[in-house]
Amino acid sequence: MSDTPKSFDELLQTLQKEITEVKADPSAYNISTTTNTASIQGYILRVGSSDEYENTRVKLLGKSGIVTVGFSDLGKSPPEIRPAIGEQRKALFAAIEEPISAAHKRLQNAALEARLNTESVDVTLPVREAPAETGRVHPITQVIDELTAIFADMGFAIAEGPDIETDDYNFTKLNFPQDHPARDMHDTFFFNPKPDGTRLLLRTHTSPVQVRTMLSQKPPIRVIIPGRTYRRDSDQTHTPMFHQVEGLVIDKASHLGHMKWILEESFKVFFEVDRVGMRFRPSFFPFTEPSLEVDIQCRRDKGEIRFGEGDDWMEILGCGMVHPNVMRNCGLDPDEYQGFAWGMGIDRIAMLKYGMPDLRAFFEADVRWLSHYGFRPLDLPTLAGGLSS
Ligand code: DAH
Repeated sequence: MSDTPKSFDELLQTLQKEITEVKADPSAYNISTTTNTASIQGYILRVGSSDEYENTRVKLLGKSGIVTVGFSDLGKSPPEIRPAIGEQRKALFAAIEEPISAAHKRLQNAALEARLNTESVDVTLPVREAPAETGRVHPITQVIDELTAIFADMGFAIAEGPDIETDDYNFTKLNFPQDHPARDMHDTFFFNPKPDGTRLLLRTHTSPVQVRTMLSQKPPIRVIIPGRTYRRDSDQTHTPMFHQVEGLVIDKASHLGHMKWILEESFKVFFEVDRVGMRFRPSFFPFTEPSLEVDIQCRRDKGEIRFGEGDDWMEILGCGMVHPNVMRNCGLDPDEYQGFAWGMGIDRIAMLKYGMPDLRAFFEADVRWLSHYGFRPLDLPTLAGGLSS
C-alpha cells in the first residue's frame, strides 16, 4: 500500500460506504471520528480557493451532497435503531460543518487581505491634477482674490457698491464741481435723465464706494473695494468695462507714510519680489489733497516686464489724502479725522503679472484662452505664504 493521500473523490466514496454501514448498524462505530472523516476535515481546512471551497461544501452538505442524501432515508430505518442513526447523522454534520465554516472565514479574510494590499493608497503621492473640464478661475477673479487675501492679512475689510451709481456719489460727493472738466475725463456712460433731471450712470471708478463706506461706517475705516467700472474707451489696453481696486483708510492720525508702507508691502507679496522701488509723483484728483501717482520700478526686457529691478518706471495707481470736502460731504469732521485712499486698475496689473498681451481677450469668454491663462481653484496667496507656496 502506498501512503499517497487519497483524493477527495476517494474520501467521498469511503464516506458513502461508512454512511451505509452505520445506517445498517449505528453501534458499529462513530462515523464522525473515523480516519476517513478526519481526512475529509483536513481536506476541507486546506481548500485553496473559493471555487474549491464551494465545490467541497456542495458535494458534502449540498442538497445532493453525500451526507444529505446518505441520511435522507432516515424515516425508512427500523424504529429501534433510528434514534442512533439520527445521532450519527447529527454528529457527522457537526464534524463537517465546523471545518467548512473555518475554511469560509479563512478564505474571506484572505480575500480582504489581498484587496487591502492591492488597493492600498500611497498618501505620499502628489495630488492628481484636476481635469481641465472642471473649470478655471478667470485671471481677473484670481487677481481680485489674491489682492483681497493680501489686504485681509493686513486687517482690511472688503466693501462693495453697485455698478449703476448716482451722479452724486460718482462725482459730486467726491468733490467734482458741477460742469467741471474733470467729469469729462471719465468718458461716462449715462442713463437717460429722470423726470427730476438727475441721471444714473455706470460708475466710472470704484471711488463712489468710498463715499458709501464713509456714510455708513464710523472711523476707524480700513477697506478695500474691488469691482467693475465703466468708461467709453476701447483699444488694446482699454475695454469699456474694466476693474479697479480702491483702498480707503480713515482714522485720527493716518498719513501718507502709512499708505507708502501698505502699498510697498502689498506689492512685494503680489509681485513675489523681495523689494519694490516706488516713486511718488504729484498729481491731481478732485477727491484727494495732496494727490499723487505711484510708479513702480521695473525692467522691460524683450517684451517682458520684471519688477523689483531695472531702471524703468511704470505708473500703477493714483492716491492721496482724502480731501476735506469729501470728508465733510460724507458727514465726517476733517478736523477730527484724516485718511488716505488709492485706486488702481486690476486688469492692468493682471496683464503685467501674468504676461497677457491683449486686454480685450479677457472678456471674450473663449474657453481656450481661459484654459491657458486661467487658474486652478483655491490657488490663493497669504502674506505669510507668498504666492508660490
Ligand atoms: N478713481 C481714480 C481713477 O479712477 C483713481 C484714484 C485716485 C482713486 C486717487 C483714489 C485716489 O482713491 O485717492 O482714476
